[in-house]
Amino acid sequence: MLLSSFVVFLAFWERLLDIQMDCIKKGSVTLLHAGINPNYTYYVACDPDDVSTVLNSCLERSFLLTDHVKAVFGNGLATSSVSVWRSRRKRLEAVFNKLQFSTDVMVNEQTILLIEELAPKADKASFDPSRYLKYAIMRTLFTMIFTESQHDEEFCKHVDLCIKATENVSKALYVKHKNIFTHNNFIFNNCTKSKSMQEEAIGILNDVINENMKKEIAIGNEVEKSQVTDSEKLGLLNYLLKLRAESIYNDDDVIKEILSIIFSGYFTMSYTLLNVLNMLGSHLTVQEKLYKEISSLPNTSEKIIKMDNLSQLPFSDAVIMETLRLYPPISFISRLVDKEVVLGKYKLETNSNCLLCVYAMNRHPKWGEDADEFKPERWLEDVASKPFASFGLGERNCIGKLWSLSIMKRLLIGIMREYVVYRNADAMTMKQKLFLHSESGHYISLQKRSTVEKKTVNGENINK
Ligand code: HEM
Repeated sequence: MLLSSFVVFLAFWERLLDIQMDCIKKGSVTLLHAGINPNYTYYVACDPDDVSTVLNSCLERSFLLTDHVKAVFGNGLATSSVSVWRSRRKRLEAVFNKLQFSTDVMVNEQTILLIEELAPKADKASFDPSRYLKYAIMRTLFTMIFTESQHDEEFCKHVDLCIKATENVSKALYVKHKNIFTHNNFIFNNCTKSKSMQEEAIGILNDVINENMKKEIAIGNEVEKSQVTDSEKLGLLNYLLKLRAESIYNDDDVIKEILSIIFSGYFTMSYTLLNVLNMLGSHLTVQEKLYKEISSLPNTSEKIIKMDNLSQLPFSDAVIMETLRLYPPISFISRLVDKEVVLGKYKLETNSNCLLCVYAMNRHPKWGEDADEFKPERWLEDVASKPFASFGLGERNCIGKLWSLSIMKRLLIGIMREYVVYRNADAMTMKQKLFLHSESGHYISLQKRSTVEKKTVNGENINK
């Protein structure tokens, strides 16, 4: 059976949202030719059942990830082949579960710091909060990865270096994927500055990880000597070193795993929080409802948010999930079709690549006629049968899902307790680069709750 197909040789990534929406209109699997090399031909699937079938049955990453991205992240979980991935995923899941509980004090500290950093911006003109959120997220990732993350000069220097290097790796990978010319390694390496920028950035990240690795080895030795089961306080890197001792990882894999975790967590969480603030800034009644929920927590005067309290905030969860539904930072997932897969009338060729359209699927008519609207309330109903894949699906879904949701919730609660957020820009213009994000329209202003005196918006008091 012949599939409808389209050809995109230039600005392939930037056109991915349109391609997804086109595919959903056609209502079936489509073929996309994004380069001369047959490796750049993809099946594109948008139907929720099709997406679920592929994600649940095909676990191998596709060419899109194995070629260029794997050169950077090697055997890190996100890019490793299934044979390597399988033995590590379960072990890492157990570590992530522990970290979710053991990092809560440190995340509280980062929340307090973010609120203080935002203070000079309050009750002033609008500003772009991206930088503040990105620093808070990178610091939080550091506290989770490294055991001794004291907020000293060296910590700040490393955070700063990692932000710049991570952004540069992302820029270089984007250039590499952008069009058929840069797909060619000779052109990418010799005719763009991106290859050298990428190598320099990876060198910086490696240096920071290596420096911290020495400290972690010393910490690990101490814990062993004192025979204290101090595992509650250990960072992810320390656990990876234990897995290295069991020959599950080698030195290079440990570094690549940390690189991969920093890269996966930094952009996804920063863009999501930025989008959440923008949505709340332009939906003030939602913001009021959210603030009411947060204010109903016991001990609201305390800056610390206890773990038990986090699970009592269904509307806060709904606000974050609804933002992720409309603006998934990873708007598509690619997988290698390595076994027989039949989608409706089509049998996909084995060893082909398949793009799964998260963005389009999340806005599927199954969410109702208002699927494109921001309505967090829909998450308070039973959504189990609704199409949603912002964290992927199946065995190889996002390992950081629960951890990231609790981090984003803590940071959001901190901001909401202290400030009212307004959005002063035009609608966000979403741009698909490596991650889906807004390139404009994310200027907000903050008003300290303590200084807002019965501010009325559309006849409603938003600061009750
Ligand atoms: C808003 C937050 C996040 C979103 C929306 C998100 C989304 C995703 C998606 C869509 C995937 C691909 C899943 C698939 O192939 O089915 C993924 C994989 C992954 N994510 Fe996340 N992610 C987030 C936060 C994080 C964080 C904070 C970390 C780590 C600290 C992380 C680590 C990973 C890793 C390691 C993988 C690869 C998993 C594997 O191949 O087994 N993510 N994420």
